[in-house]
Amino acid sequence: SSISADSHEDFLHCLSLQFPNSNSISKVIYTRHNSSYSSVLESSIRNLRFTTPETPKPLVIVTPLQEAQIQAAIYCSKQSGMHIRVRSGGHDYEGLSYVSHENPFVIIDLVNFRSITIDTESSTAWVQSGATLGQLYYTIAQKSKTLAFTAGVCPTVGIGGHFSGGGYGMMSRKFGIAVDNIIDARLIDVNGRILDRKTMGEDLFWAIRGGGGASFGVILEWKIKLLAIPETVTVFTVNRTLEQNATKVVHRWQYVADKIDENLLLRLFLRRVNSSTQPGKVTVQASFVSLYLGGVDRLLQVMQESFPELGLAKEDCIEMSWIESILYFAGFSGESPDILLNRTSSQGAYFKGKSDFVTEPISEKGLNTIWESYKNLKVDFSEILFSPYGGRISEISESETPFPHRSGTIYNIHYAVVWAEEGKAALNRHMTLTRWFYSFMAPYVSKSPRAAYLNYRDLDLGVNNKGNTSYTQASIWGLKYYGNNFKRLVHVKSMVDPGNFFRNEQTIPNCVGTV
Ligand code: FDA
Repeated sequence: SSISADSHEDFLHCLSLQFPNSNSISKVIYTRHNSSYSSVLESSIRNLRFTTPETPKPLVIVTPLQEAQIQAAIYCSKQSGMHIRVRSGGHDYEGLSYVSHENPFVIIDLVNFRSITIDTESSTAWVQSGATLGQLYYTIAQKSKTLAFTAGVCPTVGIGGHFSGGGYGMMSRKFGIAVDNIIDARLIDVNGRILDRKTMGEDLFWAIRGGGGASFGVILEWKIKLLAIPETVTVFTVNRTLEQNATKVVHRWQYVADKIDENLLLRLFLRRVNSSTQPGKVTVQASFVSLYLGGVDRLLQVMQESFPELGLAKEDCIEMSWIESILYFAGFSGESPDILLNRTSSQGAYFKGKSDFVTEPISEKGLNTIWESYKNLKVDFSEILFSPYGGRISEISESETPFPHRSGTIYNIHYAVVWAEEGKAALNRHMTLTRWFYSFMAPYVSKSPRAAYLNYRDLDLGVNNKGNTSYTQASIWGLKYYGNNFKRLVHVKSMVDPGNFFRNEQTIPNCVGTV
């Protein structure tokens, strides 16, 4: 439309005025006329649901090299009425970092803000938001064999979204989640000011550690506490199908997984597989994928004492360094750690994810009912992931950060449905079946609210009206993601962004006076 064309011109003109004596800004701007526009846009899109011709595309993408360029992009967006989205690793489940139905919009892509500075002396690091988890782990391991960080498993996930939404990984029972280990941050606010922990104040510093960055500003970098780990860790993967007593073992796991030695994290993947004993039939396979911070002998003692039902044997276990365990869990066993620096993820697919939290163990009867439904779920590929909580996660109070899933949470459930077939029919079928399975699970999971994990973002939980937010409406998903912290997030949002400049489908509402 002509309105968007005007805003677009105004935006570019405004930017050029900000940098009158240099053409540096033009090198980091991509419009639709630029031959690299599509490759820059698609560079970190994993989910094919957001690459269709109907997907709204930005008028401009800016890939800043300097902080002043981000400040200028914010200023000029405001001046020209452009909406903005901020992207770090682009892994948002609903594509919110690069898709907007508000037109016109610009993406600030932090791909060039990816430096990491490690200080082994103080066991701290500054990490820019556009770095990836893989790059962070690689860089720490280059400097030390006994320092590490607690965050997610997939190496291509971006720091910016991941840290601002929580950050669960294989060491979370020992060290908590990423936000529990962030000690400072620098961000640019709606007025273009660069603030650190001291100048932003404790309310805003609290909000960006689990409340999502997108509501509050552009987070440039984070200071994290590095964590002391042993030189040797142990990993194992043990599979049990229903014919191999999986139901009993999974049932027992629910009583053990959040209480066992916090050096041990037993993650559980459930998948439909073909039965090896009954040809033509499908069964459910439970895969226990685990990390122990220590050697195999001690691990076997812990398992013998607390979870003998799994029948873990020494042959199942592999001792290795922490960085090798990162490769192992990412599916890169035996590769050089350099592969962690690769930002481009494997071939994308169509994907829908959802989440739940479990606070009461599910009975054996309940598990059997779940397996029956799951076996009959007619989707291309699906996976249910149970991630145990407890340990350090539950020692931290619910209000310490906006991430509320603490004491009382036994495990998180992640539902993933993946398909390859193009087109609306396949999309509708897979989305409908995913939603059906989620509603089927309601009796087994947390209630009032039925909690959800922000980093597994799900727009089925509700969305803001375009350009406008309502407290009542937003509290529907706000209470699921943040529990009792939702009100404080609204308060912080109202203070730091009263004009609701930083907004998306699920940003924190700005309603001064209603709280
Ligand atoms: P992206 O760039 O898409 O940003 C996500 C959101 O944060 C958007 O709203 C965006 O605008 C905002 N944002 C990003 N950078 C910002 C900045 N600098 N300032 C302000 N706002 C900013 N989670 C987990 O806890 N444990 C895990 O093991 C995994 N594993 C995993 C694997 C795979 C394959 C995927 C796709 C996702 C995960 N996740 C996960 C979920 C992941 O933590 C979540 O999607 C993060 O938000 C991704 O962060 P990115 O920076 O990549 O996303």
